[in-house]
Amino acid sequence: MQTVIQIDSPFYLRAEELSSPADWQFVFGNANPITLEIGSGTGDFVAALAGEQPQQNFIAIDYYNKGCYKTCRRLERLGLTNVRVLREEARQFLLERIPLHSLSTVHINCPDPWPKKRHRKRRLVSREFLEFLLPYLAPGGEFFFATDFDDYGLDVADFMPQLSGMTNLLAPELFRYERPGYPLSRYMEKFLAQGKQIHFIHYQKDTP
Ligand SMILES: C[S@@+](CC[C@H](N)C(=O)[O-])C[C@H]1O[C@@H](n2cnc3c(N)ncnc32)[C@H](O)[C@@H]1O
Repeated sequence: MQTVIQIDSPFYLRAEELSSPADWQFVFGNANPITLEIGSGTGDFVAALAGEQPQQNFIAIDYYNKGCYKTCRRLERLGLTNVRVLREEARQFLLERIPLHSLSTVHINCPDPWPKKRHRKRRLVSREFLEFLLPYLAPGGEFFFATDFDDYGLDVADFMPQLSGMTNLLAPELFRYERPGYPLSRYMEKFLAQGKQIHFIHYQKDTP
């Protein structure tokens, strides 16, 4: 059995200590826009982006305890104060802690691909999940998705245009293999080193 690492860090929050939904302006001590990374792993991506965007607040969630621990250590090493880390499941966290229409950006990078056909329904990102997620984006808010897994990338690229109120910022292409300036996550680095390609998808929520 894996031991749970106790995370004692100023960047680590316990969701149960927050209100429902949480008061993120109070948590961060400012009203800067909020980016959520779902499945942040060991925090390479969120740390890189948070360093580049000090006027943005970041919430990094993952239900992987060791990943949250490593993310917090990384933030401490880098002295980044605009990120909070929670060990949370995505759907439950959104439902309980995120106000509707409040997020300026959501990133999902290299979610578990569940390559076996019979396991596909375990994938985090599906049309149904996007329909659940999008109301949490503010008008003008952006959704980024990246995967190294061809079939996953094609599936998401295929259903995204069917969602109403979302504009494809990579049009006329449904996805791209390169996004200059997009920080690389640990898994992206790993897959690129293996010669695999990443599918990048980028949409924006329309303003009313
Ligand atoms: C393959 S790893 C990728 C990690 C990181 N995004 C990267 O690209 O290096 C997928 C991560 O998503 C997390 N994850 C999967 N489903 C999740 C969910 N429903 N809620 C929160 N985290 C989830 C896993 O624990 C894992 O750390």
